[in-house]
Amino acid sequence: MISTVVLPVAGLGTRFLPATKAVPKELLPVVDKPLLQYAVEEAWRAGIRHVVLVNSRTKPTLPRHLQPADAALVADLEARGKHELLAALQSATPPGLTLTVVIQEQALGLGHAVLCARDALAAMPGGLEQTFAVMLPDDFIDAPVNERSQGCLADMVALHRDTGAWSLAVEEVPRAQTDKYGVVSLTSNPADAGARIVAMVEKPKPADAPSNLAVVGRYVLPGSIFAALADVQPGVGGEIQLTDGIVALLASHDIRAHRFAGVRYDCGSKLGYAKANIALALRDPDLAAPLAAWLQQSPITIQEAS
Ligand code: G1P
Repeated sequence: MISTVVLPVAGLGTRFLPATKAVPKELLPVVDKPLLQYAVEEAWRAGIRHVVLVNSRTKPTLPRHLQPADAALVADLEARGKHELLAALQSATPPGLTLTVVIQEQALGLGHAVLCARDALAAMPGGLEQTFAVMLPDDFIDAPVNERSQGCLADMVALHRDTGAWSLAVEEVPRAQTDKYGVVSLTSNPADAGARIVAMVEKPKPADAPSNLAVVGRYVLPGSIFAALADVQPGVGGEIQLTDGIVALLASHDIRAHRFAGVRYDCGSKLGYAKANIALALRDPDLAAPLAAWLQQSPITIQEAS
């Protein structure tokens, strides 16, 4: 059973300045819900009840979104019979969610951020032996939720339950973009659901990339990643890379590439964030028809996204 997700959220979100001057990027909404909440809901559907936020001191409002709502606001909405708004307010704090906040004092990389969660996991039942998940909230995965799947992370958790394998979510990206991602190569046919990762490189130049299969922000990892990360030397960008910790485990662990259903939006980029908002708004019962009509009729020039 996987009970914990680590959310590295200490990044400053400078690509979204000035929006992120006072608002953490993980609290930017896609339509009406912050990226952070989508991630927590995906983890919740995977059966995970413990969230470890690896936060920065500069983003104190971030954990507030996952803490109980202001009692006066709840009482006011109740008194006015605003049940839908009350449900929306309380949806941010699913019952039984445990939140731990640890501070990453310095921005030393994603691997360092995950390493900051070590003591929080060590203190839990299962300690550092436990398998846990890592999610990057700005990789927003819009996946169908139905009787067959409860989302990307739930499928990765099920893979671990059924086979014992750990996994990283992957998708094909244009060759020219391999230098934005961790890129993997696999043992067998890449289309194979059970293909094991044999090599992984952080942000390779297109010419050096072992494939065009890029890791996106969902990981199911063994607790032994912490010992591996403690030994990792600064890599790409002078940072402690999660990729380099995972590489140290590949020979001894069955770590697989999980191709997920649905669409991943890179909400760390303005284009991906804009696309996510439009895609979800076009599915919102109240917004879909007027937005579609406006997109067709308005005099703005809509350029094709690359
Ligand atoms: C991080 C990881 C990278 C991964 C990517 C997914 O990079 O280091 O391996 O492919 O997330 O979004 P970042 O986007 O933080 O530079």
